Amino acid sequence: MPMRVLSGIQPSGALHLGNYFGAIRQFLDLQRDYECHFFIASYHALTTQRDPATLRENIRDVAASYLALGLDPERSVLFDQADLPEHHELAWYLSVICSVGLLQRAHSYKDKIARGLEASHGLFAYPVLMAADILMYNADRVPVGQDQKQHVEIARDLAIRFNNEWGEILRVPEPYILPRSAVVPGLDGAKMSKSYGNTIDLFLEPKPMRKRVMGIITDSTPVEDPKDPDSCTVFILYSLFATDEERESMARRYRDGGYGYGEAKKALLAKIEETFGPLREKRQDWLKRTDDLEDVLARGAERARACAGPLLERIRDAVGLGARVR
Ligand code: TYM
Repeated sequence: MPMRVLSGIQPSGALHLGNYFGAIRQFLDLQRDYECHFFIASYHALTTQRDPATLRENIRDVAASYLALGLDPERSVLFDQADLPEHHELAWYLSVICSVGLLQRAHSYKDKIARGLEASHGLFAYPVLMAADILMYNADRVPVGQDQKQHVEIARDLAIRFNNEWGEILRVPEPYILPRSAVVPGLDGAKMSKSYGNTIDLFLEPKPMRKRVMGIITDSTPVEDPKDPDSCTVFILYSLFATDEERESMARRYRDGGYGYGEAKKALLAKIEETFGPLREKRQDWLKRTDDLEDVLARGAERARACAGPLLERIRDAVGLGARVR
């Protein structure tokens, strides 16, 4: 059986460099060689978003961004989770074997509560639905950033428990995390995240983009002095775009002194513009072609269902349900 890849992104606002380097760039590489499912995690977004119009807009935004960045809907199955309520059925079978303790240990849940979000059942059960997303397509590898590692481990746990309970049906997935982009820093050096307000969004217009990049926080070492590249957010972000040679060359300038952070920021800005500038229009174009965008998602949903349906039948059968449905 060919290796299968699956991942998703929540439609919770503009995609940023953390999403790109932590996840999407790996999607682009993996789709060349493997069977891939990439989706928009719309149900998950409901745990934090309550405005229907904004949610709809954000869903289209992720779809258009996926396409503009180069996810190929012919090669990969590209869909909206909300078109596959099947995920909820599997989530229930996983819920009944998932201990409360496992979910209580989830960092992401604890962080969200600490930030003042309501401790809803949906937020608590979030990792179970995420496990269902993954296990529904028998995924072997799940490309994500470090912040999602524990969630993928919960999916592993649940797959193993399920198989012990009801027979070897589910594949046990593994997170796929590249060390260099596992935690992409934001403007302030902390993990780049919408909820910290420290993001650099992929498709900002040149002027606001320049403002963001120039606003990256650096220390106050004078221009003439040698600097440590590895502790500098500008260098870390630049490294994500650069070739080995370019990276080495900038590192040398930092260490030699006489190279200001302003210059490094300009070099980073040029890389960002070179990579995402030409895609800005593509994304706009997809956003305008509403019908085409909907067609891509509808076709994706059909293909996702063709994969999820038969597995769900086997699962119903294994747990002792569903004869009448068939
Ligand atoms: P989400 O929407 O928060 O983030 C999407 C992807 O971007 C990665 N990421 C980062 N990686 C490195 N550095 C950062 N600063 C950074 N910020 C975000 C995330 O790790 C993620 O890979 N729960 C998931 C969505 C989801 C999912 C799934 C993922 C739902 N079901 C099934 C994989 C498989 C989430 O909230 O990602």
